[in-house]
Amino acid sequence: MKEKIHKLLADVEEIKVESKEQLEEFRLKWLAKKGVVTALFDDFKALANEERKEVGKHLNDLKNKAQDKFNNLKEKFEGQEQVSSSDVDLTKPAEPIAFGSRHPISIVRNQIVDIFSRIGFTVKEDREIEDDWHNFSALNLPADHPARDMQDTFFVKASPQPSPKEREEEGGFVLRTHTSSVQIRVMENSKPPIRSIFPGRVYRKENISARAHCFFHQAEGLYIDENVSFADLKQALLYFSQEMFGEKTKIRMRPSYFPFTEPSMEVDISCFICGSKGCNICKHSGWVEILGCGMVNPKVLENCKIDSKKYTGFAFGMGIERIAMLKYQINDIRLFYENDVRFLSQFKSA
Ligand code: PHE
Repeated sequence: MKEKIHKLLADVEEIKVESKEQLEEFRLKWLAKKGVVTALFDDFKALANEERKEVGKHLNDLKNKAQDKFNNLKEKFEGQEQVSSSDVDLTKPAEPIAFGSRHPISIVRNQIVDIFSRIGFTVKEDREIEDDWHNFSALNLPADHPARDMQDTFFVKASPQPSPKEREEEGGFVLRTHTSSVQIRVMENSKPPIRSIFPGRVYRKENISARAHCFFHQAEGLYIDENVSFADLKQALLYFSQEMFGEKTKIRMRPSYFPFTEPSMEVDISCFICGSKGCNICKHSGWVEILGCGMVNPKVLENCKIDSKKYTGFAFGMGIERIAMLKYQINDIRLFYENDVRFLSQFKSA
């Protein structure tokens, strides 16, 4: 039987298989249920125990050789089939892929960050659930201050059922009403010079309309160093406005009030839509408001343990939606949050 197997082994090696049909013949002859190998295994069962060990080894060799040869040839023929198949037309135009586009809020946010990073501002983001101290008190808005009313907001319980004493101690948590809270976080945790921009989402209890929503986005700027003056603030905002809205843009500052800046201003830009001749966007005044700003109140610096005799600084805060609405002439703030692709896809080229 050993000799017989040896001869068969040589046969398996020598047989030429040149097509898929011949491969099938090969399989039937050698590997199928009624094939040579199976028949040999039947004979094998009749052998005496002493012979079995050696013959078994040769028999397995034969079986593996046949199987390997079959597998290799099968792969070869299948590979050839794919390449020669004529239904692949490489000149055909590709299936169209629908590319997404950035959200207009992201586009404008990135532009703001980019413009300020060119004059040395770094970017920092912080939490949206903020404690009373960082959102209000440290910004010189104590608990009974009337300016808090303008930023009425959503209060969050710290523990599921705080006792009245706990609530008093914790001061409560709010969904931050402005990104000014990040000013405090940064000033508490780093030493001047500080020159950063803080973009992020903020929340206010507003009735939803074309002009207001219960959440929106702001970008806050903060610059603290020795000898930072009002002139620096003015120049930084003029630079920003011209980069964002065009080099002919002029700015105008109107006195305003924020407890955390002194003096405080609101900044308008000359209307870039009508060239200040008067239109719907500027309500025929020639000017549109873009942000609030001022010199950082020394009280705020002291609250953050920064020496207000040595350091001064400026801060500003702008609404990202407001800038985007002006830039793209969008007249309803709700469009930003509805995820209507007919609206969003218009910003593909932006
Ligand atoms: N935090 C103010 C607001 O939300 C804007 C502001 C920021 C004003 C920084 C002055 C300085 O309206």
